[in-house]
Amino acid sequence: MVDQARATMTREVVKLGKALGAEIRGVDLTRPMDDATFAFVHKAWLDNLVIVLRGMSLDTDQQVAFGTRFGEPAPTQTANIVRRTEHPAIMYISNRKENGKFIDQLPEGEMQFHIDQCYTVRPPKATILHSMNIPSAGGDTLFSNHYMAYECLAPSVKARIAGAKVLNVYDYSNAGTMKNDRIRDDAPQAWHPVVRTHPESGRKCLFVNRLMSMKLDGMEKAESDDLLETMFEAIERPEHIWAHEWRVGDLLMWDNRCTSHARQDFPAQELRLMRRLTIKGDKPV
Ligand code: SIN
Repeated sequence: MVDQARATMTREVVKLGKALGAEIRGVDLTRPMDDATFAFVHKAWLDNLVIVLRGMSLDTDQQVAFGTRFGEPAPTQTANIVRRTEHPAIMYISNRKENGKFIDQLPEGEMQFHIDQCYTVRPPKATILHSMNIPSAGGDTLFSNHYMAYECLAPSVKARIAGAKVLNVYDYSNAGTMKNDRIRDDAPQAWHPVVRTHPESGRKCLFVNRLMSMKLDGMEKAESDDLLETMFEAIERPEHIWAHEWRVGDLLMWDNRCTSHARQDFPAQELRLMRRLTIKGDKPV
């Protein structure tokens, strides 16, 4: 009976935001995905940049199996990790504490717009979050469409950033959610093109973000700051953003090559728990 019901489920894509974001219905991630279903999900992801499947209750292996259809899971458990998890590519984002100390990543409140691990030479292509506990208010994740952010720039700005490189830096020694005035010199960092060409869509998009992009190569500080601020404002325009309001059981995947994301504040005393997996990406060009 159950199998029959699954076999007849109709797959559909329902747009959630004007700029990006779509819900996929009629796909069961607890079972191995056939090639036709994968092609459907993959296209929906490339077209909508962020996809969400509601009401999932996946274990780690099922989440990893889904992610592996898109590429190789990226190990996250570097020297600075607080706590090892059951899989080298799995990380928990939560405000859980043991003995008064946070045991997971990104435990606190608001977080500025960022591209995951853009301070590495090959940033992940995708991040997959599965929500397990959510607070009663707040904690939405906001996504920005970086194709639109690039396309809306004035031709004179596009000319100034053509071929430019940006230094992306992430300082693990601060809370990691807001840019500090001073960043340690030995914080992980990488130079990348300011405008990258998406390897699958072939479209140009901005590859900068407020949390981690520090300066443009070969420019005076004032000019670099001015251009970065122009791009951050384009990224953060309301018409380029969609806010995801979490429910328990959401399985959400974003394209980390052409989006950035930010998090709204939430009550510190309420548990927010996400299981995160990232998929290896290319060197941006
Ligand atoms: C992240 O930046 O990976 C976490 C986003 C969130 O907690 O909503």
